[in-house]
Amino acid sequence: MLSPTILETFQRLHAAALASDDPEPNAMTVATADAGGGVHARMVLLKTFDARGLTFFTRYDSDKGAQLEANPQVALCLLWKWLKPSAQVRIEGRAEKLPTAESDAYFATRERLSQLGAWASLQSQTLPDRATLERRVDEFERRFAGRDVPRPAEWGGYRVLPHMVEFWYAGEHRWNERERWEIFDGGWRKRQLYP
Ligand SMILES: Cc1cc2nc3c(=O)[nH]c(=O)nc-3n(C[C@H](O)[C@H](O)[C@H](O)COP(=O)(O)O)c2cc1C
Repeated sequence: MLSPTILETFQRLHAAALASDDPEPNAMTVATADAGGGVHARMVLLKTFDARGLTFFTRYDSDKGAQLEANPQVALCLLWKWLKPSAQVRIEGRAEKLPTAESDAYFATRERLSQLGAWASLQSQTLPDRATLERRVDEFERRFAGRDVPRPAEWGGYRVLPHMVEFWYAGEHRWNERERWEIFDGGWRKRQLYP
């Protein structure tokens, strides 16, 4: 569980980023490692955060899903460059699949075409051509015509349970500030790091 101070700091920065000119304040890098030690990074959208951690949604059978299955250790990185001072948040922790009810609830809020896309896109697999994807969307459109689109079993959320959170603030002359929180003996401890 995140400490109240970490959560409040994150909430304050996130709210400021939402209010800023940032076109993608919820974009975050997710880095995963595969069983062979190779590392892989890509952006996803932060959906929720609370004392338990941060959530994002994807396909469980994507490359990232396979990597998280083999090794649930994950690193997140958010950059809020429109803030003054600009801020980076680095998070390291363990990813857990969300309970299916939480994934169902979020899937139900997505627009229909996104829901159909979740069925049609075999994320991370080879796509022969764009027309194939469009044809698959049409197929699922017909399959679910006249009724709600259910959540595909292979689509859902992860919650990242942090064991390290670092707030970084840009400073003049690159004398940036780094505030690193880590779990020691079951409690969160803070230290400053050289920039
Ligand atoms: C700003 C941005 C937001 C994205 N959000 C998501 C997301 O929430 N979930 C997702 O699965 N992919 C998202 N993507 C696409 C991923 O970066 C990536 O291409 C995809 O998940 C496949 O990654 P993988 O092959 O490593 O599993 C986003 C891309 C960008 C640029």
